Amino acid sequence: GPVICIVGARPNFMKMAPILRAFAAHSPAIPELLVHTGQHYDKDMNDRLFEDLRLPQPDINLGVGSGSHAVQTAEVMRRFEPVVDEKKPSCVLVVGDVNSTLACTLVAVKKGVPVVHVEAGLRSYDRRMPEEINRVLTDQIADRLYTTERSAAANLAREGIAADRISFVGNVMIDSLLSNRALARAPAATVSAFAADPALLAGSAGYGVVTLHRPSNVDHADVLASLLGVLREIADSLPLVFAMHPRTRGNIERFGLSALLDTPRIIVLPPQGYLEMLGLLAGARIVLTDSGGLQEETTALGIPCLTLRENTERPITVDQGTNTMVGTDIDAIRRHAQATLAGQGKSGRIPELWDGHAAERIAADLAG
Ligand code: UD1
Repeated sequence: GPVICIVGARPNFMKMAPILRAFAAHSPAIPELLVHTGQHYDKDMNDRLFEDLRLPQPDINLGVGSGSHAVQTAEVMRRFEPVVDEKKPSCVLVVGDVNSTLACTLVAVKKGVPVVHVEAGLRSYDRRMPEEINRVLTDQIADRLYTTERSAAANLAREGIAADRISFVGNVMIDSLLSNRALARAPAATVSAFAADPALLAGSAGYGVVTLHRPSNVDHADVLASLLGVLREIADSLPLVFAMHPRTRGNIERFGLSALLDTPRIIVLPPQGYLEMLGLLAGARIVLTDSGGLQEETTALGIPCLTLRENTERPITVDQGTNTMVGTDIDAIRRHAQATLAGQGKSGRIPELWDGHAAERIAADLAG
């Protein structure tokens, strides 16, 4: 049977695209079936990414949509089970750490279908993060584990996972970045419809990019208000482009915090397409984020990144890359932003095997 490949949420799409291409390019081609759980579904979170990444339309869409963690996970499981029964896959391939990743893994494993996990072994060691639960449980029961950095194997060993299940292949997300870099869209065009002063980004100061969506940062009014406050301060020295996740936009409205963003020096955008985001990142002087993927992409691009979290599951971006953990400590954020703007931003090097060929290594290993 085919390899059933699972995508559910935005950060899955840029990881799956190079894998599907490597399966098609392998000789002989590796048969696959693309299943979308429907966790992310709207134009901004889904459709534009599919177009930009030249992902084929999913063979099957489970259409689960939003819900509590329990409901979302349970709905994916309920709807994915008959697909496994009918398609009789040789294995199920999951990427990353979203609810769809764990839900499909549970279904497959209990039916005796082997699971392949791409981006295995990353650990924040913070079990309040829903993604950490998804990572730990997926890795514990998956059969084949592909890792992006060497620290992952040590994390897995600590959890009793046998070394022969693990293979260090590099980073498929960076495969996507490198193969799309030349196609990135110009920042000025991206912001033009949303900026009071579209010439702002062309100024000699340059600009910074912001994303925020972790529940720990955006679900509490006081935390969110203080983060928006320091962003506003930074914006006095450097115009900021804030690509806003729907969760964050909803909470800013609900908590009555919109006034904090009421300045022409912070340009608020809806979630961006992949090529728009790549263009914005590549031209930025600094990125402030709580995203996992952006920590890696900024390291690959050599752009200083301040991560607004207490911990990271991607330590190589700090040890070797351009990433600095600043948490939600306003003074630390302010200090590191000022240092970066004063030319003391962190420089780094490209981590081992972040070379654009991770998906090919996965295809070769699975076929071999
Ligand atoms: C999910 C992932 C997170 C990832 C993030 C990237 C889990 C546990 N979390 O979080 O790891 O970093 O995606 O975006 O799987 N919504 C829309 N349109 C959509 C999808 C969601 O408006 O297409 C809104 C809904 O109000 C929804 C909220 O966003 O309730 C959160 O969506 P959800 O999929 O539950 O989690 P994310 O916060 O997006």
